[in-house]
Amino acid sequence: MIIGVPKEIVDQEYRVAITPQGAHELVDEGHAVLIESGAGEGSSISDSDFEAAGARIVQAAEEVFADAKMILKVKEPLPSEYHMLERGQIIFTFLHLAADERLTRELMERGVVAVAYETVQAADGSLPLLAPMSEIAGRMAPQIGAHHLEKMNGGRGLLLGGATGVLPANVVILGAGLVGSHSAILATGMDAHVVVMDKNLLKLRYLEHILHGRITTIVSNKLSVREMVVQADLVIGAVLVPGARSPVLVDEGVVKEMKPGSVVVDISIDQGGSFATSRPTTYSDPVYLIHDVVHFGVRNLPGAVPITSTYSLTNVTLPFVQEIANLGLQEAVRHDRALAAGVNIIQGRVTSKPVAEAHSFDYEPLEHILPIEISSERLFGK
Ligand SMILES: NC(=O)c1ccc[n+]([C@@H]2O[C@H](COP(=O)([O-])OP(=O)(O)OC[C@H]3O[C@@H](n4cnc5c(N)ncnc54)[C@H](O)[C@@H]3O)[C@@H](O)[C@H]2O)c1
Repeated sequence: MIIGVPKEIVDQEYRVAITPQGAHELVDEGHAVLIESGAGEGSSISDSDFEAAGARIVQAAEEVFADAKMILKVKEPLPSEYHMLERGQIIFTFLHLAADERLTRELMERGVVAVAYETVQAADGSLPLLAPMSEIAGRMAPQIGAHHLEKMNGGRGLLLGGATGVLPANVVILGAGLVGSHSAILATGMDAHVVVMDKNLLKLRYLEHILHGRITTIVSNKLSVREMVVQADLVIGAVLVPGARSPVLVDEGVVKEMKPGSVVVDISIDQGGSFATSRPTTYSDPVYLIHDVVHFGVRNLPGAVPITSTYSLTNVTLPFVQEIANLGLQEAVRHDRALAAGVNIIQGRVTSKPVAEAHSFDYEPLEHILPIEISSERLFGK
């Protein structure tokens, strides 16, 4: 199979969808890997590093899209890339379609096979391709929050960890999943006062256990969220319902009651955000104020630490890329339920229920479209 990797074009996105080691594995298995010149530069990977691994460098994104059967990316295609998508081409990347009706329509109309990293789901419910980026975004959130809490950056002007004889900042984390737990680990390490909220008690219990009572956990409901958020200096939004638009836990009325100069870092913005006042921003212009509350809504947080993120992402995507390349999509999804859950759109139809529901489109189970019976046999992890 010809596998193409274009350069990422999202603002300040420095990741690339494959490493030279990953390209080498694919070439070794008889596939061709086309890389757009300069695609690895942001991650300190040169064209010659890719060439030494057996990949072929091409000068323009158009060439990558025109020749490849499968496109590997990190972020979703942007409008300037839509025209390059080919009918029947597989695009394997983060897509977050429940929050993006326009892209959903484009992928349907262009007959692309859209496989989303973030909905590949293992039998235990975990999201193996989202996980490493969630760890990284979760670890970044307290340091981003600390920066924006500084007075000259628009914040209240307080140090996350306080000082001897002075209270630390109040950090409230909405969601005790991967992002939330990694944020909690970092924020407690920075000596902040940390409250973690979730509706899943098992997740809260686990965090209490691993952090030996250094955090306060509170079950999330409308009233408890309001009570905690209005007292917070920093709120980190980290809730997720896989594949769906993220639940909005904080409405504008609550934001109005928050302290002036407090900071919201809404990591769930890629799925639409957990604050009613959240909107996507970019690293070039990362924050805005609503009711004097600083909002940070960058959708590609790990893009700022590409040397960590590129390798961390390829570690988990490569086995699935190999499955698709070696078996073809149909056989690969027949053997691997986790991968089948990643297929959001095929032949113009939406095969992800949460995406269909988010935009009121018809939903069609994958097995109604492909002549397959998805077996329980799974290759992932072998
Ligand atoms: N902005 C970025 O760069 C970036 C990077 C990585 C991940 N993310 C996003 O961060 C979000 C969280 O990802 P994750 O991997 O931690 O997910 P996760 O599934 O591990 O955790 C989500 C948590 O939200 C909780 N939850 C769901 N609905 C809730 C509700 N109504 N009230 C309270 N809790 C609720 C779940 O119980 C779960 O513990 C996702 O939207 C993900 O796409 C963003």
